[in-house]
Amino acid sequence: MAVARINCSSLQNTLCFLNPLHHSFSSKATHLRTHLHFRRRAVFCTGAANSAVRDCNEAATAEPFVLTTPLYYVNAPPHMGSAYTTIAGDAIARFQRLLGKRVIFVTGTDEHGEKIAAAAAANGSRPSDHCDVISQAYKTLWKNLDIAYDKFIRTTDPKHEAIVKEFYSRVLANGDIYRADYEGLYCVNCEEYKDEKELLDNSCCPMHLKPCVPRKEDNYFFALSKYQKLLEEILTQNPDFVKPSFRLNEVQSWIRSGLTDFSISRASVDWGIPVPNDSKQTIYVWFDALLGYITALSEDFKEPNLQTAVSSGWPAALHLIGKDILRFHAVYWPAMLMSAGLSLPKMVFGHGFLTKDGMKMGKSLGNTIEPNDLVQNFGSDAVRYFFLKEVEFGGDGDYSEDRFISIVNAHLANTIGNLLNRTLGLLKRNCQSTLVIDSSIAAEGIKFKDDVEKLVENARVHYENLSLSSACEAVLGIGNAGNSYINERAPWSLFKEGGAASEAAAKDLVIILEAMRIIAIALSPVTPSLCWRIYSQLGYSKDQFDAATWNETKWGGLKRGHVTSQPKPVFTRIENQTEVENGVEAAKKVVKRKEKQPQPQRVVEA
Ligand code: MSP
Repeated sequence: MAVARINCSSLQNTLCFLNPLHHSFSSKATHLRTHLHFRRRAVFCTGAANSAVRDCNEAATAEPFVLTTPLYYVNAPPHMGSAYTTIAGDAIARFQRLLGKRVIFVTGTDEHGEKIAAAAAANGSRPSDHCDVISQAYKTLWKNLDIAYDKFIRTTDPKHEAIVKEFYSRVLANGDIYRADYEGLYCVNCEEYKDEKELLDNSCCPMHLKPCVPRKEDNYFFALSKYQKLLEEILTQNPDFVKPSFRLNEVQSWIRSGLTDFSISRASVDWGIPVPNDSKQTIYVWFDALLGYITALSEDFKEPNLQTAVSSGWPAALHLIGKDILRFHAVYWPAMLMSAGLSLPKMVFGHGFLTKDGMKMGKSLGNTIEPNDLVQNFGSDAVRYFFLKEVEFGGDGDYSEDRFISIVNAHLANTIGNLLNRTLGLLKRNCQSTLVIDSSIAAEGIKFKDDVEKLVENARVHYENLSLSSACEAVLGIGNAGNSYINERAPWSLFKEGGAASEAAAKDLVIILEAMRIIAIALSPVTPSLCWRIYSQLGYSKDQFDAATWNETKWGGLKRGHVTSQPKPVFTRIENQTEVENGVEAAKKVVKRKEKQPQPQRVVEA
């Protein structure tokens, strides 16, 4: 590998650009930390003169909570691995909305580069037609999975091209782009030159298990090495920038081991954004795609430029990504932003992989699960719940259909669904579906209420910390406590006794239903459609459900005289019968599902 390195003396310029008041390295770095980056308000520098004014104006405007998923490659339709980040992002976005924040949840598709062009060619399509089809497949999947995104950015959108070119020009003006020859081993699937030390036998990429190809190109380079010290300092001062913390260690060790400038253009790739003033080269797909996070914020009625896009919500509060693309987000991206004088995102969270038999699920290994099939067979709530509850967010998790069925049946159908259904049935039979007492009065001195309050507070803290599995666990704990309560109290027997016992039973039903109301809000980030069905059964309208906030998880919402709806199951149990035939046990799934023929592979694998 040979890179013609430049003598990077423009760090000084970069930092002066960010803050003309400070001239020594350390004071500039401190300024970056304390005044430009990691703040909740969107602050950026497009020039020193007006930054202070902008700073003040921005203080007055409500700051949105911007979170992003990766922008997915459109070389192939989405699989369960790609859906995972978006499900998690949607749950976090919904939770933040419950807290009353103005959320901008960004997702989209990454449509340029060699591997997309190859996928289109293999498919006999023009790249743009190919991108339209696959991008639409993502949108359809998000609809099926109840994903409520606010912005969907396609990197082939013309407004994105304008922003990428403007950003490139800024970085160039800052002295951080130079031209050089590059020779190395390239993984087309990663769209990245690889360090030979990272490769397996036969120069195979450890992620895609395919040989990397030797490449030699005359490219434009980004002077990443200039930012090494600054990045080190930033990560030391802001350990929350990379989460979970074990991934921070990984990033710090990459940086410590030395950062190499990387090539940000391709001479051999047509399908991309042309480099300003050099139409023979296109901009490297990662340099292009990362900027999609900013373009996504630009509003259609405003001229697409960096300033208007940034002022609509940058910096992002959270980039959710898989661990394989951590280096791009935690090293390349902050350096690029610093070079262009823009604020850094507040957090990059690198989750683990969904695996099948221990291997990363992905198109190249052919071990994927089709998320649309899962939704069609089991419903969006089951899919969302299983992956968020069963995979600790941050670590890897294996999928098995048996486990899937047993978890969603136990938690959603039994613990939550049955408890609601039998309580509403008892209320209908014994109290004409009408609550006899305020839930706050009913629960006076009852330990179950204290337990629910603790559990829902735990759930809030876990959601805040992105511990999505633990948040589910805490809400499920309310269901478990409710089942224990109803079983101990046995209101069905108390009703038979009549008199005071019957009154106590009617009170018990109010207590359980109040807990169900709290579950319906607290689990709604994870299973929105199920929670709406619970809310509706409890006698509330869709508008009331949509307007609910986390504040309403406080005990005491259900009042005397409130009438509940006709009870009907909110989550149908998935059947998984074991039949014994001729003395041989054969596991036969009789889940209500349509048998699906394997789909022909239409596109090149990811
Ligand atoms: N296009 C880039 C991202 C650019 S962001 C500016 C990309 N795309 S991807 O489609 O290959 O991957 C998108 C995301 O899906 C990554 O975060 C990746 O980690 C995630 N997943 C792909 N397979 C996965 C699993 N098997 N499990 C969990 N997530 C995985 O990279």
